[in-house]
Amino acid sequence: MDIVKTYIEKNKNRFIGELFEMLRVPSVSALKESEPKMEQMARLVCQHLLKAGADMAEVMTTSGWPVVFGEKIINRNLPTIMVYGHYDVQPPDPLDLWKTPPFEPEIKDDKIYARGADDDKGQLFMQIKAFEYMVAENKLPCNVKFLIEGEEEIGSPALKEFCKENKSILSTDVILVSDTNIHSLKKPVITTGLRGIAYFEISVTGPDRDLHSGLYGGAVANPVNVLSGVIAGMKDPEGKIKIPGFYDDVLEVDLNERKLLNEINLNEKEFAASINVEELSGEKGYTTVERIGIRPTLDINGIWGGYTGEGAKTILPSIASVKVSTRLVPNQRPEKVKEQLIRYLKEATPKSVRIELKTIQDGNAYVCPWDSKEVQSAAKALEKTLGVKPIPNRGGGSIPVITVLEEVLSAKSVLLGFGLESDAIHSPNENYPLKNLYKGIETLPWFYHFYCK
Ligand code: BES
Ligand code: MN
Ligand code: MN
Repeated sequence: MDIVKTYIEKNKNRFIGELFEMLRVPSVSALKESEPKMEQMARLVCQHLLKAGADMAEVMTTSGWPVVFGEKIINRNLPTIMVYGHYDVQPPDPLDLWKTPPFEPEIKDDKIYARGADDDKGQLFMQIKAFEYMVAENKLPCNVKFLIEGEEEIGSPALKEFCKENKSILSTDVILVSDTNIHSLKKPVITTGLRGIAYFEISVTGPDRDLHSGLYGGAVANPVNVLSGVIAGMKDPEGKIKIPGFYDDVLEVDLNERKLLNEINLNEKEFAASINVEELSGEKGYTTVERIGIRPTLDINGIWGGYTGEGAKTILPSIASVKVSTRLVPNQRPEKVKEQLIRYLKEATPKSVRIELKTIQDGNAYVCPWDSKEVQSAAKALEKTLGVKPIPNRGGGSIPVITVLEEVLSAKSVLLGFGLESDAIHSPNENYPLKNLYKGIETLPWFYHFYCK
């Protein structure tokens, strides 16, 4: 199948032009004002699927941003692979830190710079081009479906409902996803697990208005002080989360798998240097790879309250708020974490303030056994094109809809991603190396080959 390399070589220039067209659309799912751009982006994905050889592709409306569904059915008796991906991107802010504008893609040092260059337009593009190659060269060994959504970066609120309603058209044997990292082309990994998420906004309200801090200070509970104490009590100095019951459902990973995960030999010094910190920090008793992959976490994502403008304003604020997210591991449930957090907040705060908690996002963790047919087909494909056997890796990020898809469609998913940690996804100057883009296009047909064999 070296023809795939020839095919890529011959079509490289066209590929870049097509991917750039996608990267120019600011399909930021978090913003309401993106509506025309989300529509435009969905139509563009549709056109790309049809041009690549899909029998049909359409933009389907949901209660949120549109979904693109497409398929090519060559023989109902053959297996079906469904590609999942997302066309939405994270907001590009802060804009002034970008060296080139986020929606004006550019190639520099053999990397494509743009919001979405990796996550997930670049990786989705590899899937479409691998499909195009197999159709063009008559190499498609099975039926293919595409489910491309526009809400992944906001937790896929509409897709969950959409899947249940469209279960029959989505039926598949396996779900193939390129939306994770490979670590490096020399030391490839396959993501066999992702963390779940439970994300909340908490507010602490005291008096019904900001008060004079001289006339009232000392006599009335200050919501910012109270919230600060509550936050400080959430973790101990050893990095353990202190919410009672939080670890009850955490499954310990056996030493064998832990050993395998650590084979990646993460260079902690380089890792720390890459983000400009003196040293790393985390839960005692676990390596950095383990802290990210197999342990749950709790982080404050944002905090506000009181006066933050210029100079002084002597007030005792009425309200303080915080956004807090937990990353969860297999067997932990977001609903249970929510109950535990509510109970903790009740106990940790005086009657003088009122607490409100709102769920913003939730999703379960994902795991796929290393020795499954799905993952092994991906491992063989990577070994074929990279010449090295990949090792398993647990990714710290989340794709909450994966476990929903698996459950509704009774199919396993495989995460065959080609991103690098240095791609700066969600950050300014997101980028994707051309090498990874082309390796992805070259490798994916081999997954089809081994899976259908
Ligand atoms: N593609 C990422 C997830 C990812 C990236 C997993 C690299 C493993 C390696 C995805 O687009 C993402 O950012 N997910 C969000 C989900 C959240 C918004 C619910 C995340 O993890 O923060
Ligand atoms: Mn993604
Ligand atoms: Mn993302």
